[in-house]
Amino acid sequence: MKDFSMLFPGKVFVGYNSIERLQDIPFRGTRGLIITGRNFARKSGLLDNARKLIRKQSKEVFVFEGVEPEVSVETVDAAVELARRYRAEFFVGLGGGSAIDCAKAVAGIYRDRLSVKEYLDSKIPVRKDTGYMVAIPTTAGSGSEATKNAVLYYTQKKIKISLRGESMVPSAVIIDPGLTLSMPPELTAHSGMDALTHAVESLFSKNANELTEILSLKALTLLVDGLPAAYKNGGDKKARYNVMLGSFTAGMAFANAGLGAAHGIGHPVGAVLNLPHGLVNAVLLPYVLKHNMSACSAQLEQIKKVTGIDLIKKIKSINRSFGIPARISAIIPRAGEKTDEIMERVEYSASMSYNPVAMDEAAVKKILKEAL
Ligand SMILES: [Fe+2]
Repeated sequence: MKDFSMLFPGKVFVGYNSIERLQDIPFRGTRGLIITGRNFARKSGLLDNARKLIRKQSKEVFVFEGVEPEVSVETVDAAVELARRYRAEFFVGLGGGSAIDCAKAVAGIYRDRLSVKEYLDSKIPVRKDTGYMVAIPTTAGSGSEATKNAVLYYTQKKIKISLRGESMVPSAVIIDPGLTLSMPPELTAHSGMDALTHAVESLFSKNANELTEILSLKALTLLVDGLPAAYKNGGDKKARYNVMLGSFTAGMAFANAGLGAAHGIGHPVGAVLNLPHGLVNAVLLPYVLKHNMSACSAQLEQIKKVTGIDLIKKIKSINRSFGIPARISAIIPRAGEKTDEIMERVEYSASMSYNPVAMDEAAVKKILKEAL
């Protein structure tokens, strides 16, 4: 018996063309700001469509474009400035994880006069009365549409840092797999492996509960089923549906259960070697699972019995089919020489503390030696 509490987005729409539901969403206020990336939403016509749908509710809607793949604190502040100038009262994050993170951060802080750096530097808690915020992902992987934090790039300090607050969980989410049909194979693979890592690490997290376990397991089967097919044929509608729903489901699981050592080690590896988050997770995950075997073997057996999935084998075979190598040195030949630099940046709080087997310096070093 375990006591727990959980946090989920308010209203969720899932399905092809669910973007159309924007016209029914109960936005608070009369003026809104769509926050999006540099290209995709405008070029694909999605931005115009979103604007048109929101205007059907007689709302005024403004646009902030230009969110980078890793959203910086300066970009958040520029978007906040626009939100204040236009007196926006609701927000739509339209794009990949970074556009959604930016919109969450803006909705979290726009009511004050402070910059996001001031929030981060002084650890000022995000207000409880954040703006109404809708997340519309156009990629499948980060799970940002389900979580309470925004991962931001703090340019001066050259670090990624989270602004978080329970009120930052999106008020509504639109999961429309049609928006991911044109995702290129490499992005499908990397972001998809991030989602799969979320499913696996939340499942084995020390902080998991009976409900997150259900979400993690469902996410796992959806992703294992959908990812290889979506990679092979981007236009496979069933596969795209499974991957996007799997990614969101994994997001809800890890938002409430936490993650593990693949993320804990993966963040500094990605930062030092400048590699995509999902790619690093994909390489690390089999090594972390092997390290965790003493705590996870019974559950791995159970997964095999119930779903037929031999998890470690499956992850390795999906990686191979995506052209993801077993070791980082196949991508960056002298990656091992960066071990000390990576070790200096490893944080043993957060994700690492939820790993089912305790992680210390020696364990991290061993995993790095195998994986780099
Ligand atoms: Fe992740």
